[in-house]
Amino acid sequence: MCGIVGYVGHKEAEPILIEGLHRLEYRGYDSAGVVTVTGQKLHIRKRAGRVGELVRLLGERPAPGCLGISHTRWATHGPANDVNAHPHLSQDGTVAVVHNGVIENYAVLKRQLQAEGIRFQSDTDTEVIAQLIALQLAELKGDLIEAVQRTLALLKGTYGLAVVSAAQPDLLIGARLGSPLVLGIGDEEHFLASDPSALIGKTQQVVYVQDHRLCVLTADDWHLLDYDRTRVQACVQQFDWDPGEADKSTFEHYMLKEIYEQPETLENAMRGRLCEADASAHFGGLNLDTQQLRRAERIILTACGTSYHAALVGEYLIEEYARIPVEVEYASEFRYRNPPIDRNTIVICITQSGETADTLAALRESKRKGHPTLAICNVVGSSIAREADGGVYLHAGPEIGVASTKAFTSQVTTLAMLALYLGRMRHLSAQQGLNMIRELRSLPDLARRALHCHDAVKRIAEKYYDVSNCLYLGRQYLYPLALEGALKLKEISYIHAEGYPAAEMKHGPIALVDPHTPSIFLMSRGPVFDKVMSNLEEVKARGGPVIAVTCEGDEEAATRADEVIYLPEAPEYLQPIIAVIPLQLLAYHVAVLRGCDVDKPRNLAKSVTVE
Ligand code: F6R
Repeated sequence: MCGIVGYVGHKEAEPILIEGLHRLEYRGYDSAGVVTVTGQKLHIRKRAGRVGELVRLLGERPAPGCLGISHTRWATHGPANDVNAHPHLSQDGTVAVVHNGVIENYAVLKRQLQAEGIRFQSDTDTEVIAQLIALQLAELKGDLIEAVQRTLALLKGTYGLAVVSAAQPDLLIGARLGSPLVLGIGDEEHFLASDPSALIGKTQQVVYVQDHRLCVLTADDWHLLDYDRTRVQACVQQFDWDPGEADKSTFEHYMLKEIYEQPETLENAMRGRLCEADASAHFGGLNLDTQQLRRAERIILTACGTSYHAALVGEYLIEEYARIPVEVEYASEFRYRNPPIDRNTIVICITQSGETADTLAALRESKRKGHPTLAICNVVGSSIAREADGGVYLHAGPEIGVASTKAFTSQVTTLAMLALYLGRMRHLSAQQGLNMIRELRSLPDLARRALHCHDAVKRIAEKYYDVSNCLYLGRQYLYPLALEGALKLKEISYIHAEGYPAAEMKHGPIALVDPHTPSIFLMSRGPVFDKVMSNLEEVKARGGPVIAVTCEGDEEAATRADEVIYLPEAPEYLQPIIAVIPLQLLAYHVAVLRGCDVDKPRNLAKSVTVE
């Protein structure tokens, strides 16, 4: 959450910072601000609202200079207004700071500083950092690096920081503890960002900064220090995101573009990983030896939000095909629980961003206890990808819409391949393996055909977009999808929605059924089809409108449901990957019709890097 961009070089900083902020706006959009440095002067501009508001302000009052830092905020401490917008200045105006994370002891520090006569402007935790650095700077007679180091020693919590000062107007300093930070290396110019996507088109060489590191940047030089001020080796990596991948192209919203990318992203998730010769899947980066995997007696899948729903599908997949008991845990709960876990348990973190604070903490806790850990992750070089013992990248490209879509289908596909791989180590026959490979290979085409339901879904959205409540019901593989469909609708259209296993409905949720509450039934084409059909009848009998998502050729649904969305037939275990497509489109169109900001829903931000 929150986006940071910093620049030092020989070009004007303002347009570079603004371009980076536009790319990071999905990280938080409560306010935006920049500060640039010329000579001994800091030029600070900040505004509540979107980056567009800041751009308007800069149109009236440009920020000159070739060094600057900037921020787009997801509010933690204090409401979203101009004063609480970053950057924050010290009282004497010499130091400016932008910050991503939470300073847990800020209230104590603030009281101490106020007792010493320091006046604060904002309600934020970040302002404390600026005040502390300025005090140290005055004491140290202008050594900004030392002043930052001394300040960091006083902070408890998490931070990705960028700092500039009038005292050393050619220096940009970054620091990281628990919140992501990337350093970009250019030709006589250097960058700092909370997310590599801010650097698309600017540089292809990056350093993913580790915790407890300071970055010291000037136009001509860069290096990393540890907190003892010793230089540390940095691992420079190639960063080759194509600028086109991060644009909306001809689509009105990123979310729609990402829904439409799914045939391709599914292909990318499987590329080079399915092997007919072994009738199995191959993964390059698991870093666990075959014996360790064979010995696995339990797998814990941990994740948040949509990734948690992918994990729930993973539970069905791994238990059915690899016959290994699986538990799925919300990362936010798992990190604080102390479940008994034996030596042969593998912990797998599932995450699009690789930066979700709770998932990262769950990973660290698992490692601390000595469990082998894997990550199923999209963002290359992210904290979780780097810290897990091994893992699998999704290769889905940047996901910018705040509502996760293509990452979900790639996660489930990867889990299906993992189930195949683990299953082949145990009891799955070569023939079963080959069947699964054939079915997996058909996924991109099935997804392409599933997108043909778009017009039908749009018509349904037009009919129901003004309801206040909605139920999503499914069984077995489609139960996690009911949860995911409800989450998609809630988060972007602000309609209250609940997902349930279809048969659970009679134990409570059926009380919600009325003529204004549509129920979306996800019709499993497996052994429970008739059971789900009975549940559908029960809702109809109580006057509830029913939308059925079913496969082509199902004539029964058409006679009973008010609306039917047809999908191509897919094997049961792959249905979640296909059936999620109309649910994503439904949420999308309902949100558009209700006038919601689809790509930047209220109160949300992509990548939840605070607890
Ligand atoms: C919902 C959504 C969130 C994320 C969750 C986990 O559409 O995007 O629920 O799925 O914040 O994020 P990652 O996968 O980045 O760990």
